[in-house]
Amino acid sequence: MAASSDLVRMEGIHKSFPGVHALDDCRFELRAGEVHALCGENGAGKSTMMKVLAGIYPKDAGRILFKGQEVEIATPRAARDLGISIIHQELSLMRHLTVAQNIFIGREPRTGPLRMILDEDRINQQTRSLLERLNIRLDPRARIGDLTVASQQMVEIARALSLNTEVLIMDEPTAALTDTEINALFDIIRQLRSHGVGVVHISHRLEELKLIADRVTVMRDGRYVATVITDQAPIDRIISLMVGRTIYEATPEVPEHPSLDVVLEARHLNRGRLVRDVSFQLRRGEILGFAGLVGAGRTEVARVIFGADHLDSGEIFLNPRDCLPIGRSQALRPGARSRRRDQHRAGGI
Ligand SMILES: Nc1ncnc2c1ncn2[C@@H]1O[C@H](COP(=O)(O)OP(=O)(O)OP(=O)(O)O)[C@@H](O)[C@H]1O
Ligand SMILES: [Mg+2]
Repeated sequence: MAASSDLVRMEGIHKSFPGVHALDDCRFELRAGEVHALCGENGAGKSTMMKVLAGIYPKDAGRILFKGQEVEIATPRAARDLGISIIHQELSLMRHLTVAQNIFIGREPRTGPLRMILDEDRINQQTRSLLERLNIRLDPRARIGDLTVASQQMVEIARALSLNTEVLIMDEPTAALTDTEINALFDIIRQLRSHGVGVVHISHRLEELKLIADRVTVMRDGRYVATVITDQAPIDRIISLMVGRTIYEATPEVPEHPSLDVVLEARHLNRGRLVRDVSFQLRRGEILGFAGLVGAGRTEVARVIFGADHLDSGEIFLNPRDCLPIGRSQALRPGARSRRRDQHRAGGI
């Protein structure tokens, strides 16, 4: 594509914090109607690079061109005036305010004789049409604190888009979302792309790249590494660029330890809606991970193992060779809980 379609071009960007050269001669470019992913390991400089673009951090050196013109983006306000919006890793909404109040914060239409009264009807109406346009099903009057993280994320996006955004930067928007919520978010991103918005998508979930990103720029240790077209770059190659060496085996084989002692065993654990028929064994010297999306029940399993919550049914054995169940449904075995309490007191688990 011709260079004239570049919305943003960042070149030779340097940024230091005390003791850290966070950006060392970095570059990045974004076209209109493109989703451009920014990848790299923790601390690579992704957020810092985008905060420079969004006027949050001043750069120490380098230049930024917006639609071919060199610009100084000294403040978040200057970025917003150019149509650059950022959604941060940490959500920044006011929990006690409504969806509409959050979207219009700082630029609320006023009514009444001295124009002192917030025009709630108008902001609710404008928010409703904005949300409809984005296909987001939310009540403008709902309080942010009552919404799920995914819905809050959608409000952040709606707020950014109410500002006539041409560049939308999303810093790890999917980190706390479920699959369904991610799909809804990606639908919105695709819609924005088709309207010519340039979207920067920062994510650690590499499997998402193929779904949403047109190009990927990789950073490592505060340096620019490469920009690749997603369709032409296998994920292995992107990982290699991120870590700086070839990864032959992204998922190492799990060694079998049939001879090692089982130190903790869970059998058919059930609790509420989230823990259903969970069984596993933990062997001595082993690190056992629990993976799953938000809401999959990982924390809930950990809580019943630890004794923070009661089991509805199932058994937990510490050193099962000794056959001592340490947790069991109270209904099944009333004595089990007190034994578990003893174990805890003795630093058992
Ligand atoms: N405000 C700050 N003050 C001091 N150091 C900072 C600040 N912000 C970032 N850094 C440092 O700059 C480097 C780059 O950080 P940055 O947050 O940009 O990385 P990142 O690629 O976004 O990482 P992550 O994937 O963990 O979000 C890190 O070494 C970080 O500790
Ligand atoms: Mg970051």
